[in-house]
Amino acid sequence: MNQLDKKSQAWSALFSQPMSELVKRYTASVTFDQRLWKADIEGSLAHAAMLAAQGIISKADLAAIEKGLAQIRTEIEAGKFEWKLDLEDVHLNIEARLTQLAGDAGKRLHTGRSRNDQVATDVRLWLRGEIDLIVGLIEAFQRALLDLAERNTEVILPGFTHLQVAQPVSFGHHMMAYVEMFSRDAERLAEVRRRVNRLPLGAAALAGTSYPLDRELVARTLQMEGLCQNSIDAVSDRDFAIEFCAAATLAMLHISRMSEELVLWMNQSFGFIDIADRFCTGSSIMPQKKNPDVPELARGKTGRVVGHLMGLVTLIKGQPLAYNKDNQEDKEPLFDTVDTLKDTLRIFAELVGGIEVKPEAMEKAALKGYATATDLADYLVKKGLPFRDAHETVAHAVKAAIAHQVDLSELPLAELQKFNPAIEKDVYGVLSLRGSLNARNLPGGTAPPQVRAQIARHRARLGPG
Ligand code: ARG
Repeated sequence: MNQLDKKSQAWSALFSQPMSELVKRYTASVTFDQRLWKADIEGSLAHAAMLAAQGIISKADLAAIEKGLAQIRTEIEAGKFEWKLDLEDVHLNIEARLTQLAGDAGKRLHTGRSRNDQVATDVRLWLRGEIDLIVGLIEAFQRALLDLAERNTEVILPGFTHLQVAQPVSFGHHMMAYVEMFSRDAERLAEVRRRVNRLPLGAAALAGTSYPLDRELVARTLQMEGLCQNSIDAVSDRDFAIEFCAAATLAMLHISRMSEELVLWMNQSFGFIDIADRFCTGSSIMPQKKNPDVPELARGKTGRVVGHLMGLVTLIKGQPLAYNKDNQEDKEPLFDTVDTLKDTLRIFAELVGGIEVKPEAMEKAALKGYATATDLADYLVKKGLPFRDAHETVAHAVKAAIAHQVDLSELPLAELQKFNPAIEKDVYGVLSLRGSLNARNLPGGTAPPQVRAQIARHRARLGPG
């Protein structure tokens, strides 16, 4: 039995009582942190190679460690590795198995290292890889949104403020608003990645180590962008995880807002879109129902991602320096945030391809809400009226149109001229939805040429995919 296997009885010669079963289960993390195994092996290989390069362990020990870790990798991949609760976490499980396989060489791996700097390194390595996957998924989702926007650049949607009809916008333009949001999300994640990608190893338990470690070499081997510069900070802070969860929360918030719109738009009173059957479910009692479960759930899952962010913030809040076992609680919220965001992004990239747009319903709704009133005011401004007066004049015209139950464009010219004699026949070009859309032809505006320019810019940025 090696030292680590004896851990089930007691930590070391210091302990005279075995750990109770309940405490063992309470303190173990192996059931969830085993997903860090690849990063743990990668970190150990880099550490061992550096120990050998520095003459701290022999070349023969390094070879035995490398061989043992390769076998462990194979065992885990084949599902044949036996994870033991007695060995508490992923780190001790792998180290104990290595010692079974490599004998004393396995016992030398932990020289100049503590689980405190080891776990911080593992989580950073793992998260770095996940960030890269997430950015790829965001880009795939954006490509799907670009396709949808491109197909519907000319489709007119009533744009809302306060959920009231405000001004007509291109449906493509509306979708491009989300593309902008997700671009910032990807950008934010790339920035978080830089701070995630720093090396804690060498900090050991908290104070550094007396062995002549070459930290720079380990950082280079692991392709990290720098060292954590203070050993106490290196083992104790989890701000990189909090930052990631904040960035993930923003991405989920953006998906949640989109979800809310999709749900509304699919409501029969709107009828703006249909979502393909494969993303919807029926009702067990109402045979006519088709429910937009996917966006509803995405909206709901946003709540739990926000919760994880709050959990992590609270986890750190009261901790004295340096490492505390509290930090073991960083993993489940972080893992679930990653899983939830990845699944949601994957499903949304597909769902967007299954959206059927209903231009007639959108246009009808835009016509109901006096969406071109601002255009009439702008028209009067061009005739020389100050904007505030034009605004007032148009309010009277809208009031009259409401009284007659018609759209502004349906008021006869003579009627319109009662509000201002400068109004001429060309006003009807301005009062149409399409005229309003085309008029907003400045960078960032909703005129279709501008929307096409936005789409082209993002396509160039994303490349062919
Ligand atoms: N499982 C632990 C964690 O996730 C590893 C570090 C434990 N360190 C210690 N000194 N008990 O934080």
